[in-house]
Amino acid sequence: MDRLLVTGGARLAGTVRVSGAKNAALKHMAAALLAPGRSVVRNVPRILDCTLMGRVLEHLGVPVTWEGDAVSIDATTLTSTEAPYELVRQMRASIVVLGPLLARAGRARVALPGGDEIGSRPIDLHVHGLAKLGARIRTEHGFVVAEAPDGLRGAVITLDYPSVGATENLMMAAVAARGTTVIDNAAREPEIADVADLLVAMGARVAGAGTSTIEIDGVGVDAFHPVEHATMPDRIESGTWAAAAVATRGDITIAGARADHLDLLLGKLADAGATVDRTEDGVRVRQAERPTAVDFVTLPYPGLATDFQPILMAALAVARGTSIATENVFESRFLYVDELRRMGADIRTEGHHAVIRGVERLSAAPVRALDIRAGAAMVIAALTADGRTSIADVHHLDRGYEDLERKLTTLGAEVRRDGEPVVVPDPAAAR
Ligand code: EPZ
Repeated sequence: MDRLLVTGGARLAGTVRVSGAKNAALKHMAAALLAPGRSVVRNVPRILDCTLMGRVLEHLGVPVTWEGDAVSIDATTLTSTEAPYELVRQMRASIVVLGPLLARAGRARVALPGGDEIGSRPIDLHVHGLAKLGARIRTEHGFVVAEAPDGLRGAVITLDYPSVGATENLMMAAVAARGTTVIDNAAREPEIADVADLLVAMGARVAGAGTSTIEIDGVGVDAFHPVEHATMPDRIESGTWAAAAVATRGDITIAGARADHLDLLLGKLADAGATVDRTEDGVRVRQAERPTAVDFVTLPYPGLATDFQPILMAALAVARGTSIATENVFESRFLYVDELRRMGADIRTEGHHAVIRGVERLSAAPVRALDIRAGAAMVIAALTADGRTSIADVHHLDRGYEDLERKLTTLGAEVRRDGEPVVVPDPAAAR
């Protein structure tokens, strides 16, 4: 069992460079399926989820090689259009191969992802949108099967909810449809615009990505050519370091962070007493005193990201006063709170609200990482706790944070991994 042992008490200080964005890089890798030939995506974090996406692509007959933070994806030929359950169950985001596969091969068979710790996670908006583009869709034996033997056709799609994954999947399908597609009430997360940039570089015509109305003039699938693209910095990782600075009363410079992607979070941290400087190359967050309680609600972008919720809650667990958090995106994203309570946090949850009565200090205890961001919350709580906390199931952290121990140690944290980390295999070495 791999655990992280974190001794609390250090005020984190120094500079940490943020890695590329998991939630953009995964979609960039899937988008490479659209163009016959070798695409290269740079600034890809070496994390489990990106390796798993590489596995999914290899399963489709697409060789994937890593060189440092660059991933080379050779989509010259596809030998399969199926994403198997064994891979999809490990990483829900595999569902985003549905759109590009359908566009490229006219057919896709992807295992249904199912729910996880944070919610039921249906894909009805993906399916409904692809059907509007003319695909015939059915589910059978735990798979969603989509077919468009005569190609896709443009359509006006209004999403019931601005889903990130549905917006990306539909965008990656519509770029090869005949005619124009409009995605209304589209998600506006910065990762969407970064995916659209790659698609445009490949030869697609996409306008309005990052706004709630995206217009796509379809070009035949033959119009796509392989590209080189660098993934944007990870705003959720950036926010994790910012909250860690506040919780530990530290002083962290987050090199490479895009402050403009973090406005609401940095505003909340400033309300909690932090000094926030937007620098040329990133953001500096300093906290001199014990943080002050703040209320927050999570919403789709440009609202405060739901992925910041556990991270902020961990910091507010040691704040002066009572904070109220409201989770509006995922229906069961407070499950990790029991783990924080094991460390002495005073948090009550009721439906999608949580009341956090700040305590002077948490106390170390054995806890588990339930998912990527809940894991980050455990690390932040452990950094402020009295004693050494053991965090089990840290493979969840490895799924979303690159080089976490080294970065923490660079900032002065006392942290050690106990047991072998889940190895991120180099697909090239496997052959
Ligand atoms: C992406 O998930 C991110 N994952 C999540 O980050 C992030 O929390 C989420 O967007 C919201 O910002 C990746 O990009 C890989 P959604 P996604 O579709 O695309 C409902 C992390 O820790 N919905 O915007 O799955 C859904 O149930 C992860 O990095 C439907 O009802 O999120 C949820 O309540 C966790 N039907 C809401 O929309 C659908 O067809 C938001 O989901 C699709 C979604």
